[in-house]
Amino acid sequence: MHPKAVLFLAGAALVSAQCTIPETPPSDTISAPFRLQVQNASRPEVHDKYMNLFLAGGGDRHLFIGPVGDPTFDLTLVDGVINWGPAGVRAVIGGEFSEVDHTTKMFMTGRGDPRAIFEPTYACNPDDPTETQVELRFVTWQNQPAGGWICVRHAFDGSHEFRYYPPGNELIDVNRECIKVTLVVRPSGSGPFTSTVIPSSTPPASTSLSSISTTSTTAPTATSTNPPGLFADMTSSGFRFIGCAPEERRVVPPDFPGRTLPSVVWGDDAMTNAKCMAFCSNAGYTYAGTEWSRECWCANSYAATRQPATTVASLANCNFRCSGATGEFCGGDAWLSLYEKCPVGGPCENNVFS
Ligand SMILES: *[C@@H]1O[C@H](CO)[C@@H](O)[C@H](O)[C@H]1NC(C)=O
Repeated sequence: MHPKAVLFLAGAALVSAQCTIPETPPSDTISAPFRLQVQNASRPEVHDKYMNLFLAGGGDRHLFIGPVGDPTFDLTLVDGVINWGPAGVRAVIGGEFSEVDHTTKMFMTGRGDPRAIFEPTYACNPDDPTETQVELRFVTWQNQPAGGWICVRHAFDGSHEFRYYPPGNELIDVNRECIKVTLVVRPSGSGPFTSTVIPSSTPPASTSLSSISTTSTTAPTATSTNPPGLFADMTSSGFRFIGCAPEERRVVPPDFPGRTLPSVVWGDDAMTNAKCMAFCSNAGYTYAGTEWSRECWCANSYAATRQPATTVASLANCNFRCSGATGEFCGGDAWLSLYEKCPVGGPCENNVFS
């Protein structure tokens, strides 16, 4: 046989093993509830995992794969936009821009941030080339040039968070590479039921710490040296207030890595500083910080670039009232009310703000 004929036959055999791609493309509205799976066969740490939703401030949902967030089974696509009906939130792109690799966060919100627009497309499943799957190809986000893709990068506790990688970009964050992924529509019953390490409904391990002593909401004056109203005094519980510490997008220029206290996070609609201190303390951490009214973050260290200021003005950024105690403040929008555990038997004094 002529060598070219062999090549031709081999090619024909390959084609016949492939899946069937319907002639009519899928509609850009998918009403049947689905889950989203990510694929990148060359990256086993993310391949075939499912997108989870993690409740954040203001009813927003952060998007993760891995052991963080709640599995969801009822996503829909409306005119190319990913919706999660129960909370009326949509996938958008914006915030937490990285100067290192020029990626931007993708998350879900009910607010008017620019929506991510996808085009459902038939393709063959790389794991099983005979199977046809529907992929959500990223098209654009509102008011932005078309192109780019969705990627996931390491966040905390073995999870990965979703981000947008702009067209024409070639930057790679060598410390935290954003891995390009294919988003695949899966029926709502498929996939594992991986849940949060710390589900948002979990109560703190203990509430043994005494309740906070300062609940004044009086605004500080320029002459006050230690305004009691702008932070909860936790010294009687063995934690000293350090200040209002910036998260990633509040540091100018933005530094690396992302979270100021990245080790453990817990969210609760009845958050107080006392609950957060108890939670981090019981989990064995030295630093505890509350953020966005309902989040509690813990770690044993933080980067020098996140050291809060000691001016009265700097405290104004931590002005979100705790979801479980409106008389005290639990951080702000990407700002942490940062506390440190006092040494046993040692002094326990808040920083002084002037
Ligand atoms: C997997 O991720 C790498 C790194 O982002 C990327 O270069 C590659 O194109 C991705 N593969 C697929 C099939 O998406």
